[in-house]
Amino acid sequence: MAKMLVAGNWKCNKLFNEAQLFVDALKTALQNAGDTSQKDQGCDVMIAPPSPYLAAWAQQINGAFKVGAQHCSHVEPGAHTGDFTADMLASCGVDMVILGHSERRADHAETDQHVATQLRHALDAGLRPILCCGESLECRESGAHHDWVQGQITAATADLSAADMSRVDIAYEPIWAIGTGVTASTMQAQEMHAFIRSIIGELHGDELASATRILYGGSCKPSNAAELFACPDVDGGLIGGAALDPVSFAAIVVAAQSTACPT
Ligand code: PGA
Repeated sequence: MAKMLVAGNWKCNKLFNEAQLFVDALKTALQNAGDTSQKDQGCDVMIAPPSPYLAAWAQQINGAFKVGAQHCSHVEPGAHTGDFTADMLASCGVDMVILGHSERRADHAETDQHVATQLRHALDAGLRPILCCGESLECRESGAHHDWVQGQITAATADLSAADMSRVDIAYEPIWAIGTGVTASTMQAQEMHAFIRSIIGELHGDELASATRILYGGSCKPSNAAELFACPDVDGGLIGGAALDPVSFAAIVVAAQSTACPT
């Protein structure tokens, strides 16, 4: 079983001083919540703040958590105002990057081809990408959600080598669950995660499929994290709203630790 990952996606929230204060607040909240990571039983923890904070924040965090970016551009270095590359992120101390989030696909017209290029650049830069996939409510209601998710994963990963694929995490984030307070049921999450693992098996082999970390994202919070993480094919979470509050985020981390190492 893959080591669990709890990843916080702050999206477009918090000022820099608030991000700085969060670091100690999270350490305290983790201790208060019964963090077991000091005993090497922990899960990976990552937080992705707004991009302008990354270099300074990576220094402040100093390895206590993984530093994530919410995006990297698909362009090569050069005349692209406002863009930044995966190499630039790596040079700032970033460890991981979230790619293909439905909000980027919707707000910035990012296509599967853009995401595939970003993924290639991220891997080449030594970053560990989290590839997001997930269907709209309309798509699920029409019964096309499996084809949709399969298309997203195939477009982004089909050309990757086994070595590359072993450095990719997947996040299943049904769009209808993101920021809505509506969470996929454990049955819906488990069913889709198992399906995603089978797609990875077809593309990259069963050994890689069983080692791939598949996170759930979409209104995951302290009250539902433990039951979602208990699903056999759910290997952690990509957390939006609940990652903005250190106490809530710490509770989700501890839920993942308890699932990974039941006492
Ligand atoms: P949410 O966001 O937890 O606020 O639903 C999850 C995400 O978009 O990554």
